[in-house]
Amino acid sequence: MSTKIIITIDGTSSTGKSTIAKRIAKKLKYIYIDSGAMYRALTYYAIQKKYISKTHYFEDKLINDLESISIDFKNNILNNRFEVHLNGISVENKIRSLEVSNLVSRLATFAELRKRMVATQHALGNEKGIIMDGRDIGTVVFPNAELKFFLESSLKLRAKRRYDELTLINENITYNQVLKNINLRDSQDINRSNSPLKKASDAILINTDQLTLDELEIKLLSFINPLISKNL
Ligand code: DC
Repeated sequence: MSTKIIITIDGTSSTGKSTIAKRIAKKLKYIYIDSGAMYRALTYYAIQKKYISKTHYFEDKLINDLESISIDFKNNILNNRFEVHLNGISVENKIRSLEVSNLVSRLATFAELRKRMVATQHALGNEKGIIMDGRDIGTVVFPNAELKFFLESSLKLRAKRRYDELTLINENITYNQVLKNINLRDSQDINRSNSPLKKASDAILINTDQLTLDELEIKLLSFINPLISKNL
């Protein structure tokens, strides 16, 4: 008999968390939740409303709107992926831009916003059989998760990976802009006082620098399989 568990994957930006989480979820028939997409959707909303930009940050306005904003995930039957929806509309292909990336980490420092995101994330984990990636999933969202991973990778490699992804979707950017953005986000995510990015003491630390995606998958599954095949 297979046991459904909660698996968390945290780590700095562009360590390959979401790529590997998607693969594992597909293999296990688990639900994959990209918690960063929720913060990005909120940032996209705030940009549309002109609450935030490079020059101003009116977080009070966003907090006032919070009750009326819905952020959830729905399965896209065309690609069988859970996509983030903002007020009922998929914003999956709008939230990866450099503009959103440059503003999201600061927005993610606000306690009220985090509280609301964490409540949604908890509800998603009720049924188990879930793999969620982010920054505080193993420490704050699911501190009792059965299995936690923390991925790390060198800054240059992460920037290269992200740059390649962004140029694929035609964003007009330079490698240096991406490097700067990742550096800034890492420092905001690690140094914020509310739910900072850190490894949970019981998380398994994996450096992905020398691993192909297949090797990383084998490694993660070597920890996952014994747990899910346990008879309860
Ligand atoms: O995973 P990502 O790079 O798409 O996340 C975007 C930003 O959202 C990240 O810089 C910090 C924030 N975030 C967070 O604070 N907590 C999470 N659980 C996930 C993301």
